[in-house]
Amino acid sequence: MDGGNVRFSVKNLFNVEGWVCVVTGGGTGIGLMIAQAFANNGARVYITGRRAETLQTAAKTWGASLAHPQGKIIPITADITDKASIQNLAQEIAKHEKHVDVLVNNAGIDGSTSTVEKGDESAQALQKELWNEEVLMWESVYRTNVIGYFFTTVAFMPLLSAATTRGGGHTGSVINISSISGVTRTSQHHYAYNTSKAAAIQLTQLLAQEMRRPGVKVRVNSIAPGIFPSEMTTEGSNEQNKSSIPVDESYGEKKGIPAGRSGGEEDMAQAALLLACNQYIYGQTVIVDGGYLLAHP
Ligand SMILES: NC(=O)c1ccc[n+]([C@@H]2O[C@H](COP(=O)([O-])OP(=O)(O)OC[C@H]3O[C@@H](n4cnc5c(N)ncnc54)[C@H](OP(=O)(O)O)[C@@H]3O)[C@@H](O)[C@H]2O)c1
Repeated sequence: MDGGNVRFSVKNLFNVEGWVCVVTGGGTGIGLMIAQAFANNGARVYITGRRAETLQTAAKTWGASLAHPQGKIIPITADITDKASIQNLAQEIAKHEKHVDVLVNNAGIDGSTSTVEKGDESAQALQKELWNEEVLMWESVYRTNVIGYFFTTVAFMPLLSAATTRGGGHTGSVINISSISGVTRTSQHHYAYNTSKAAAIQLTQLLAQEMRRPGVKVRVNSIAPGIFPSEMTTEGSNEQNKSSIPVDESYGEKKGIPAGRSGGEEDMAQAALLLACNQYIYGQTVIVDGGYLLAHP
């Protein structure tokens, strides 16, 4: 009888003890929040990025005093815009692990912005503003936010599938960090970023279809965050690789966020654990935005 009830304990429902996770861009911001969520619950988490020092700081600062004795944060440098580097990453991890339970495609960039309000002046003024956007900027945003997610997933496909076939009661899964910017109908002054994030949501659905096949059996989902503190959304990060967004009483109203604040580390951690552990969620995008999209549909 007891067993029937114990199954419902949070510890059991969100058990990632002994799991292997890979979080791209895991040294800062949202990626670090997710890495900490898994590592503090007993997973070995490989964090990747281009800056070795940033990754080492994250691993030293946050990996040394984890809440679970089996947890680990392991830094490995890799550039997700470079196929050879992605392949090297998967091969390095394969030397130490027989499977990867969760791949979090999180590493992303935002590119530059344009003043779209120029359209209030004239078509010519808006045209001039938007024409100034660089093709190279668009390409580099897509190269990271879409193409990088695609090839990283493909590189880890056999290791993710191995997490399913080893019979631990869960499938390997991929979590793509997209954005509410890929859902809202406003450009938010960055067309390249917003269209790349919409593409990441579509990529999630396409990969979910592809990888549900009997020979692969890997779930693919996405988290679309609202505004979270990170190097991308603030001036950078402190000596612990953490960023903060000052929030006063009028913040929620000014930004149109019913929750009245920016996203917190626990908000992101809960969403990542949900998609990793719930075995019945396939091809979905979970929006974690404090209600932002209700005000900015
Ligand atoms: N913060 C938000 O409000 C928010 C909202 C919605 C979505 N997002 C998404 O969340 C994800 C994480 O961003 P963040 O906000 O946490 O910003 P962040 O702190 O700047 O994190 C991005 C991370 O990605 C890494 N990265 C960038 N390009 C890379 C590449 N080519 N190869 C490997 N790693 C790379 C960066 O490390 P290196 O520079 O060392 O490579 C950095 O650690 C992004 O996909 C972003 O679009 C963020």
